[in-house]
Amino acid sequence: MKALVTGSAGFIGSTLAARLLSEGHSVVGVDSFTDYYDPSFKRANTARLSSPNFTLVEADLLRMDLEPLLDGVDVVFHQAGQPGVRASWGADFRTYSDSNINVTQRLLEAARQLGTLERFVYASSSSVYGNAERYPTQEGDTPLPVSPYGVSKLAGEHLCTLYASNFGLKTVSLRYFTVYGPRQRPDMAFTRFVRAAIAGETIRIFGSGEQIRDFTYVDDIVHANLLAATVPLAPGAVLNVSGGSSISVNGVLELLAPLVGRPLDIEYVAAVAGDVARTGGDARLITQLLHWDPLVDIREGLGEQLAWATSDFWR
Ligand code: UGA
Repeated sequence: MKALVTGSAGFIGSTLAARLLSEGHSVVGVDSFTDYYDPSFKRANTARLSSPNFTLVEADLLRMDLEPLLDGVDVVFHQAGQPGVRASWGADFRTYSDSNINVTQRLLEAARQLGTLERFVYASSSSVYGNAERYPTQEGDTPLPVSPYGVSKLAGEHLCTLYASNFGLKTVSLRYFTVYGPRQRPDMAFTRFVRAAIAGETIRIFGSGEQIRDFTYVDDIVHANLLAATVPLAPGAVLNVSGGSSISVNGVLELLAPLVGRPLDIEYVAAVAGDVARTGGDARLITQLLHWDPLVDIREGLGEQLAWATSDFWR
C-alpha cells in the first residue's frame, strides 16, 4: 500500500512508519517538528526511517495544500496531533483545537474530495472517556472528557464518524490507552521514571500514585493500526486499543525498581488537573472485529523501554 503517516516523527508515528517500511509498503511521512518536546528527538526518530520507500514532507497540516499530499495514497494513518493531557489548559488550548480538530477536519475534507481512500485511521485516545461510567469501559459508554485535550480528541473522532456517515468515508478511530515503549515522548510517565531511575534522580508522582492506567505497548498499537487499515470494517468504527495491563503508577514503580537494580527515590507532589483516576478499556470489540490481542505485557514492555533508555535514548 501507499500510506500517509501524519506525525511521522513522533513516538507512535515513527514506530508505525518503520513497521510499514519493514513490510515493504511505501510511506509518505508528514511532520512539522513542533517544539512541544525537543525536536532533535523527532529528527532522531526520522533518521531511522531512511529508505527509498520513505518520503518526508516537512510541513504544517493546518496550512499546507493537502491535495498533492494525498495523491495516490491508499491509507491515511492520522497520528499527528498536539499531545499531553496536563498541558492542555489555558491559552495553549488554541494549539489543541488547531492541531487535533481543525487539522483532522482538513484531512477528512481532502480525503472526501479525493474519493479513492481505502481507509482513514484516526489516533483517538482513552482520554475521551474521562472518569468513565464503568470499567472496563466499552466503546458505547458515554464519553465525558475531563481535560481540554480529551475534548479535542473526541471532537476529532466525532468528525471521523460524521464523514463516514455522511459521505461513506472509510474511517476507523482507535482509542489508544496510555502508550509506552521505546521512543515514548519525554513528557510521559515511563520515560520520566526510567530516565530518573537510571540517573539516580528523584521520580515525581502526581497525586497518590494510586491512579490506574491500562498501559499499552507501542508495538501492539502499531499492530492494531495495520489491522484497522486492512480488515474490512463498517465505516465510522470506533475501537478501544487497550493493553489489559491495568496497574497503578505505584505498581509500575514496584516493577521498575528490581529492573533497575536499586531502590527508587520517589517524591509525591500535587495531583494535576485533567488527570483521570483510572482508565481501563474493554478490548472485546477489537478482538472480535480485527482479531487483535495485546501481545506484550507490562513487565516485558517496561523492560524493553528500560533497555532502550539505557542503550539508545536518542543519542
Ligand atoms: C497519555 C498520553 O500522554 C496522552 O497523549 C494520551 O492521549 C493518553 O495517554 C491516553 O491514554 O489517552 P497519560 O495517561 O496521562 O496520558 O500518560 P502518562 O503521561 O504516561 O501518565 C500516566 C500517569 O502517570 C498519570 O496519572 C500521570 O499523572 C502520572 N505521572 C506522569 C506522574 O505521576 N509523574 C510524571 O512525571 C508523569
